[in-house]
Order: sequence, then C-alpha cells, then structure tokens
Amino acid sequence: MSKLDIITLPDPILRQMCVPVERVDDALRRLADDMLEAMYEAPGIGLAAPQVGVSRRLIVLDVSEKDGEKNPIVMVNPEIVHFGDERRSYEEGCLSIPDVKVEIERPAGLTVRFLDRDGRAQQLMAEGLLSTAIQHEIDHLDGRLIIDYLSRLKRDIIVRRFKKQARTETA
Ligand code: NI
Repeated sequence: MSKLDIITLPDPILRQMCVPVERVDDALRRLADDMLEAMYEAPGIGLAAPQVGVSRRLIVLDVSEKDGEKNPIVMVNPEIVHFGDERRSYEEGCLSIPDVKVEIERPAGLTVRFLDRDGRAQQLMAEGLLSTAIQHEIDHLDGRLIIDYLSRLKRDIIVRRFKKQARTETA
C-alpha cells in the first residue's frame, strides 16, 4: 500500500496557495517518489503535493498508456511560460474529488519551465493530454479545483455532498 493518503474535498488544504520549493534535496525526491507511488496506485495520471497534505509547488505526472512503459515526470516549481492558440476540451477527473467529472476547455498546447528531480532547470513543450494534466496539476498549486470551472450552483451541490460524506465518515 502507498505510504501517502490522498486528501479529498472539502479539506481546506486543497484551497491553499502553495509556496515554492526552496531546495531539491533527498527529502523532496522521496516525497516525489511517494507521490508517484500513490498516483500509480490510485490510479491517476497526475498528483499535486497539496493532495498529500504538503502545501509546496511540486507535481508528478505520467500520461503514458496503461500497458506501455512508465514515463514518470516530476516538476518542481512549474511555471507555464507560453500557451498555444488552440483550445481543447477534455473531461477531467480528480483523485481529490472521486466520481466527479468536469468538461473543461483549456489551451491545447503550452510551454512549461520547472526544476526536475535533480534540481536542473528544464523547459518542456506539451500538447494533448499532457498539456491538460499539467494545467490541472498547476491549478492545484494555486488552490484551484476542477469544480471551479462549473457554475456556482453545480459547484455548491458537489461541495455539499462531500461535506456531508465527510461528516458521516467521522461520525
Ligand atoms: Ni486533481
């Protein structure tokens, strides 16, 4: 079993603005590896540090095909420096909001800068699912969730459902 539990709505940590990572050291690499493990186990294609209770700017991703070779990506302090003109719509889910899907239109392509697992500066151009996943995970670092793309009414219904669920679980 994974060492990390994935935090779900309505935990307030999901709404916090995460602070930058100051140093890419062994402790951070361990956290990234544990996050990847939790993500694969879930299973999901991306996970952000606040989803495991750490309010830092760190995300992990792997959008490779299920049966293909793994392609884990670790991004420390990711920053989107360019968006393409085309847009793409995708039905997104989130490990912190189980069983909820939201159709979200986002830029189809982007360029992102980040530090890798070894603390080296990298720049990556992404399209398709990877572009969507990067934007979704960076949203998490800013306290933004997929339900924020819904109308207020629909969002409130979902939040209320999760609050009720959390109350029954702790009762
Ligand atoms: Ni998510």
